[in-house]
Amino acid sequence: MNPEKVVCPCCHVTKGDIAKAIRDGASSFKEVKKATKAGKKCGKCKKEVKKLTKKILEK
Ligand code: FES
Repeated sequence: MNPEKVVCPCCHVTKGDIAKAIRDGASSFKEVKKATKAGKKCGKCKKEVKKLTKKILEK
């Protein structure tokens, strides 16, 4: 996983940011969204953010 990869270009949220939010206690897409702001604008990245959140939580 490349932590620099931008998952949400609107809010400039990277994979690393999402992983960090989860390390800091976020345990759902909703909480990741709240912590990182990913998906708060156009919403196009939601699917990707959800998928990634699930993947990281399963580890
Ligand atoms: S790409 Fe994430 S809100 Fe637009």
